[in-house]
Amino acid sequence: MIRQALQTSETDEAVPAEPSNRDEHIAPAPRVSIQAFCEAVETAAAIQAGGEDRRLGKAHLKIQMGGVAAAIEAYRSSPTPNVIVLESEGRGDSILTGLDALAEFCDAGTRVIVIGRTNDVVLYRELVRRGVSDYMISPVGTIDVVRSICGLFSSPDAKPVGRVIAVVGAKGGVGASTIAHNIAWATARDLSLDSVVTDLDLAFGTAGLDYNQDPPQGIADAVFSPDRVDTAFVDRLLSKCTDHLSLLAAPATLDRVYDFGAEAFDAIFDSLRSTMPCVILDVPHAWNGWTQRTLVSADEIVIVAAPDLANLRNAKNLFDFLRAARVNDHRPYYLLNQVGVPKRPEIKPGDFAKALEDDPVAIIPFEPQIFGAAANNGQMIAEVSKNHRTAETFRQLAQLVTGRAETKKVKGGLFAPLGKLLGRKS
Ligand SMILES: Nc1ncnc2c1ncn2[C@@H]1O[C@H](COP(=O)(O)OP(=O)(O)OP(=O)(O)O)[C@@H](O)[C@H]1O
Ligand SMILES: [Mg+2]
Repeated sequence: MIRQALQTSETDEAVPAEPSNRDEHIAPAPRVSIQAFCEAVETAAAIQAGGEDRRLGKAHLKIQMGGVAAAIEAYRSSPTPNVIVLESEGRGDSILTGLDALAEFCDAGTRVIVIGRTNDVVLYRELVRRGVSDYMISPVGTIDVVRSICGLFSSPDAKPVGRVIAVVGAKGGVGASTIAHNIAWATARDLSLDSVVTDLDLAFGTAGLDYNQDPPQGIADAVFSPDRVDTAFVDRLLSKCTDHLSLLAAPATLDRVYDFGAEAFDAIFDSLRSTMPCVILDVPHAWNGWTQRTLVSADEIVIVAAPDLANLRNAKNLFDFLRAARVNDHRPYYLLNQVGVPKRPEIKPGDFAKALEDDPVAIIPFEPQIFGAAANNGQMIAEVSKNHRTAETFRQLAQLVTGRAETKKVKGGLFAPLGKLLGRKS
């Protein structure tokens, strides 16, 4: 039966190996124009693949062959873009001569990345002296290209760029929102990281209830007035829950309908991530243009599943889709929730691990008393029961999704500590 359910998955073809590691956080580039002038077809292919990465999704990329000479020719008569990538297979002096010639036509503000063959400090210094932003040694990989271009826009003295973490249920009612809210709360309290929960379930969202807040404004004010969205405007719509935690609440009213285009939330997310280190998105269980886009473009994804067949099938489909859409990212995380409902036959974590080819990052037991009390009192699990093991799980999940996981260096792999905590074999 499990096999049968999984055969409905449409994205069954092999997904390429994962090149980026779980530690690395590359912030997406803004809407910039990039032109690359390559010499080797391999380099052109790597840049092309980099351009398809979600982090360069907003950028406009044009690639042509011909290296520095072609660039000089191109910019003799036309303005330069935000970023020029130049490949030179020649020696150091020929790169420098080419750059000096190009400098005549280069607009101020255009940044240049050079790809060359030699690993040479003297050349590197000369390039820096001429204002080159980055030097990469070929052969370059897709993720090198993404890292280099995105790095131009997130220098240490630039504004902090937040990590966007999307939490979604494999089925309705599996506890995705509860988990999103608890992780955000733990991030704010235990990691002292400024965090915002964005409730994207506009009609029925429960973040306001869970944090015992009833703010008059929230996400609807932003998404229905796209022209007004900027950092200051979105900032005013946040309600403060704790020292480090804010909420962008859903209206949870039914006086209008909530149909949105795929890009409706882009500007809101951009403005949140420009001021908040941690943006947790409570994504409703739905599949439409904007939910799909929200998941694909998030920095981290957490899929919450309950241990039954429909959850297994849906989690597998989500997993396969997202891995195929995000080939340069590590896999989404998933966790099992509401495990151990008395008398209920359940699908084992091992079967999930086999189907999804990865272990869950947590297994959270079904505990109606404590979860029920938390939900009805507008509290978090740690507030209802400070030392409860599920509160500790949320703290560890907060570390994991924000990239502050001290646990991951522990021998036995990433999942060992959580596994130990939950009393299961890793
Ligand atoms: N581990 C658990 N044990 C017991 N109850 C739980 C557990 N996790 C969540 N719940 C309860 O399950 C209910 C549904 O949770 P929640 O609203 O977070 O789910 P959801 O996946 O966001 O649902 P929706 O599809 O409506 O958005 C809530 O009453 C919550 O308190
Ligand atoms: Mg929900």
